[in-house]
Amino acid sequence: MIWAPRMSHSNKLHQQIAPDVKLGKGVRIFGFTNLYGCKIGDDVKIGTFVEIQKGASIGNRCKISSHTFICEGVHLEDEVFVGHNVTFINDLYPRATNAEGQLKSEADWQCISTRVEQGASIGSGATLLCGVTVGKGAVVGAGSVVTRDVPAFAVVAGNPARVLRMLNEERAEQPAKTARSRKQVSS
Ligand SMILES: CC(C)(COP(=O)(O)OP(=O)(O)OC[C@H]1O[C@@H](n2cnc3c(N)ncnc32)[C@H](O)[C@@H]1OP(=O)(O)O)[C@@H](O)C(=O)NCCC(=O)NCCS
Repeated sequence: MIWAPRMSHSNKLHQQIAPDVKLGKGVRIFGFTNLYGCKIGDDVKIGTFVEIQKGASIGNRCKISSHTFICEGVHLEDEVFVGHNVTFINDLYPRATNAEGQLKSEADWQCISTRVEQGASIGSGATLLCGVTVGKGAVVGAGSVVTRDVPAFAVVAGNPARVLRMLNEERAEQPAKTARSRKQVSS
């Protein structure tokens, strides 16, 4: 069954939600969003300036923060957090034109999928190359470039992203750090 998303009238004016989008129950979508041909689970929150393309799927209770791009072939399982300005990729060797010099069409390229498993979090500004799986409960650091599969409950960061440490599977949530508890930048 397809449900109407919860949103205010002013938000509705600036959204493009194509009729072929399958929306779950209790979905909240903010303004300036563009969704087409995708599947969105129940109780999902989608921030401003998010685009979700055809063939992408979002599980239940996911949070997608503003300015994020979720392309065709991306599959988020339940309870995934996606930070701001996260970029997914589905074409490893993109070209504008084919051998004849014509603009490439839908038939001219191969979409490579990416999966983010249940409860994983993707930090703001991260880029995920295609064909990777981010394992259950893993955390991808802000600004990381993910080039390989991320093991379940791993914390990864950097370009290319490397494992910093492993989380306790029983209690994957970490206590919040304050700015004061951070190390100083060395010269
Ligand atoms: C990856 C992350 C979870 C690590 O947190 P942490 O375990 O507390 O890590 P620490 O701060 O102890 O840092 C450990 C090391 O990793 C480095 N590091 C931490 N985060 C990093 C990142 N995003 N990119 C590159 N390196 C990072 C630190 O500089 C430190 O290196 P050092 O040992 O050489 O000094 C966190 O830094 C992060 O990026 N979280 C994502 C936050 C986010 O995007 N939220 C979105 C909503 S606002």
